[in-house]
Amino acid sequence: MEIFKTKASLHAFLQPLKASAKKVALVPTMGALHSGHISLIKLAQQNADIIICSIFVNPTQFTDPKDLEKYPRPIEHDLAMLADAGCNGVFMPNVEEMYPGGADEAWHIDLGNAEFLLEGEFRKGHYQGVTQIVKKLFDAVEPDVAMFGQKDFQQVLMIKNMLAHFKLPIKIIVCPIIREDDGLAMSSRNIHLSPIDRKNSLVLSKSLQFVIDHFNEYPLVELEEKAKSFYNNIDGVELDYFTIANGDTLEPAKSKDEENLVALVAAKVGSTRLIDNMIIK
Ligand code: PAJ
Repeated sequence: MEIFKTKASLHAFLQPLKASAKKVALVPTMGALHSGHISLIKLAQQNADIIICSIFVNPTQFTDPKDLEKYPRPIEHDLAMLADAGCNGVFMPNVEEMYPGGADEAWHIDLGNAEFLLEGEFRKGHYQGVTQIVKKLFDAVEPDVAMFGQKDFQQVLMIKNMLAHFKLPIKIIVCPIIREDDGLAMSSRNIHLSPIDRKNSLVLSKSLQFVIDHFNEYPLVELEEKAKSFYNNIDGVELDYFTIANGDTLEPAKSKDEENLVALVAAKVGSTRLIDNMIIK
């Protein structure tokens, strides 16, 4: 497995491969890898010849400087996991390489109204930062396909809107959410959960599963209310939102007959903010 710290060295590695018609997949990550990330690598291998994983903790998508500071960076462990998974190359630039003029570089594109809903409401500017770095990574790798997790449902939508904005010919493949045995969606932030938080964190997947299991039993409003009531009276858990939304616009669903419906949740468990979702249809 090759390791690249600069765009130039990555480009030099990829150019001859592309010239011989090898298909390249990019798996963008911020490191602190777990089985969810590795599932993206495995799916990439089914869709391309050469797999590049990027590890870059992107400062422009963090709204809370403390969150950026405490983001886990177990790089040796990450590299061992990627080598074991058969990843071909890792792109791990420093901040200067991605933001030569500093991380306050101007960037603003129209991502549609969904930018301001859900995560966008709680993390102002977050998706501008995400699309800014993903565009830079796409420019550096020029992949044929790129893998993203359904875990970050709204992120996928924003990246697709960014691709449309720049008319980039990259295929986005959305990968299913990998969960712990008890249902908790895997996340790099889960290591911050105390034993009590870890137990409480199950309320996210349980409330989502409730909606899936009882979708035909209750009207929309009641379904959402019942799911929200899972969060009543749990010490140390604070619900940011629970919504049954249209999967294309992320606006609250108006009817059960809408084509794409998804239940999405965000909650603070102890001091850790978790998100999760399940696609209804
Ligand atoms: P990160 O949180 O490291 O996630 C990298 C990719 O792994 C994302 O596409 C995410 O949706 C996916 N992922 C995370 N947890 C998963 C799980 N339990 N199952 C399946 N896939 C999962 O998302 C980011 O990084 C950044 O915003 C990034 C796109 C790299 C831009 O900085």
